Amino acid sequence: MTVVEAGPTGALRIAPSILAADFGALADAVAQIDGETDWLHVDVMDGHFVPNVSIGPPVVKSLRRYSGRFFDCHLMMSEPGRYLEAFKQSGADGCTVHVEVGGTASLIAQARDLGLRVGLAANPDTPFEVVAPFLGDIDLLLLMTVFPGFGGQSFIAEVMDKVRIARTEIDRHGLALDVEVDGGIDETTAPVAVAAGANVLVAGSAIFARTDPLGAARALRRAALTGRG
Ligand code: DX5
Ligand code: ZN
Repeated sequence: MTVVEAGPTGALRIAPSILAADFGALADAVAQIDGETDWLHVDVMDGHFVPNVSIGPPVVKSLRRYSGRFFDCHLMMSEPGRYLEAFKQSGADGCTVHVEVGGTASLIAQARDLGLRVGLAANPDTPFEVVAPFLGDIDLLLLMTVFPGFGGQSFIAEVMDKVRIARTEIDRHGLALDVEVDGGIDETTAPVAVAAGANVLVAGSAIFARTDPLGAARALRRAALTGRG
């Protein structure tokens, strides 16, 4: 199975969330923004860990035929371990599990064994100390800037304190780790998140809900770069 390279850790990346796209025309939506996207963010919701249901491995498999981008799968699931292999086989490149579901060390090991790039996510009210012990074992730390479950929510600015702490700790230990933010990211909040230390920006509404998604992705990248000072 072909593995799509994630690219250099720490580089600024835009990861459009297909959750905000038209599910009836996903391949077109993805093709439309291809020139301006680095990763594709795939939001998987199980109706249990979050109060919403979205998509799963079959959609990843179908989409794989239409996109050579890095598939960054965000598993908002109570039992992600039951599905990691299916995601890998469907063409996922990276999978992120939530620390709140527990069993984190074994989930990380399982994802690693499958050859996935490994992410760990924390909800807005989960303290940094809960993810800190795993920083040396993961490739990506996802700090949610909304409570997961729905697109189109407002950015929770208080999470930036956690982003700053995470970035400081990562740099202090010389770790190669991406810091991703997800929820309410647009041209206004992207530079704030980047200035705090995030380098992967997930955006759904600010790209796919716009009339010109490609232009919106471009504007988002431009805005984000201003946060790098
Ligand atoms: C939230 C999801 C997000 C969401 C972001 O549960 O994890 O990826 O799609 O959507 P926007 O950018 O609309 O806040
Ligand atoms: Zn997400």
